[in-house]
Amino acid sequence: MTMSRAPAVSVLVAALVLALDPIASNGSDSEAAPVAAGKGEGVTLRDLARGDHLLIGTAVDMAALASDATYKDRIATEFSSVTAENVMKWEAVEPQRGHPDYTLADQLVDFARQNDQQVRGHTLLWHNQLPAWLTSGVADGSITATDLREILREHIFELVGHFRGKVYQWDVANEVIDDSGNLRDTLWLQQLGPGYIADAFRWAHQADPRVKLYLNDYNVEGISAKSTAYVELIKQLRAERVPVDGMGIQGHLGVQYGFYPATAVAANMQRFLDLGLEVSVTEADVRMILPQDNAKLQAQAQGYSTLIMGCLLVKRCTSFTVWGYTDKYSWVPGFFSGQGAANLLDENFQAKPAYEQMRAVLMQKG
Ligand code: G3I
Repeated sequence: MTMSRAPAVSVLVAALVLALDPIASNGSDSEAAPVAAGKGEGVTLRDLARGDHLLIGTAVDMAALASDATYKDRIATEFSSVTAENVMKWEAVEPQRGHPDYTLADQLVDFARQNDQQVRGHTLLWHNQLPAWLTSGVADGSITATDLREILREHIFELVGHFRGKVYQWDVANEVIDDSGNLRDTLWLQQLGPGYIADAFRWAHQADPRVKLYLNDYNVEGISAKSTAYVELIKQLRAERVPVDGMGIQGHLGVQYGFYPATAVAANMQRFLDLGLEVSVTEADVRMILPQDNAKLQAQAQGYSTLIMGCLLVKRCTSFTVWGYTDKYSWVPGFFSGQGAANLLDENFQAKPAYEQMRAVLMQKG
């Protein structure tokens, strides 16, 4: 059950924002405030967030979890939520049509149970990391639109059913709107039309009526054409009584792009709360053009700070997940040449200013 924060608390957090978030006070991040020195040594993010009824999570690289004890141990102690970075995606759970394989996903769920953690499900429906048999079948016409809708229905019932009662939030539909605010022109839209989104949510709800069902996307941290398109989509879905419960704000940021102030993040989040939803930050990281330097690290800390403060400024931001927590394992260098250092800890698991800033915000608030 998600406890809402008392209204009075938001006043405290607003004061915190002004104290710790220079972007809010002077509108720019060029003079990043010095990061609050770490206090309360040894107290973890999950402990600090517990008082706010906030789950703090990380995406998990299952290969690293199996091979790197330091990586594994830190996840076990630092976080109260885990997300499969890749092993719950369709290509991973059904590499062969009709032959689901949950081996690695089940290992993550077991790990979470052993460490008193909750599991975010990621993701039922996306245009990336689809199994080859599906994409090739659609491409060569051997899978018709009618077949595809049934295949999607079966996939959702199978996957959500397998993890019924073990997952607290599912990213049902991932990245379905493009940066212009239009429905993304994917195989799903082309073959099934816009109704595929409502179908996916209805099927997921039938498969597990208790799990919270999310839309999830990047570049929706502040008020923009894209985030406003999601507001309109959700209004339409809710009018059709489609069971959509939450908006996932991925939070993939870059120092070189600057950041929305925490108050702007919160104002955007509030739009989703006003529709009756909850929100979560689902994939936070703040990359930079290498080499890193102190100015970039301080700016990175403010980037993380705007997201966690935005989450704390609203009543129903239920979880805050980083997309990996150490620079030793990150998707960024492979996708953005010359960029990296996106995470809270460095490649030697040492705290960066961003980690200390996250602690400082949670400590002031808690
Ligand atoms: O599993 C294969 C392996 O067999 C092969 O040897 C290797 C080399 O080609 O590739 C492996 O697959 C990689 C997969 O991650 C698993 O590691 C893919 O190439 C690689 O493209 C894939 O990248 C993932 C990416 O999504 C795909 O778009 C990243 O790890 C993952 O962090 C990233 O996560 C996404 C979220 O799901 C949605 N939001 C955006 C976020 C960042 O793109």
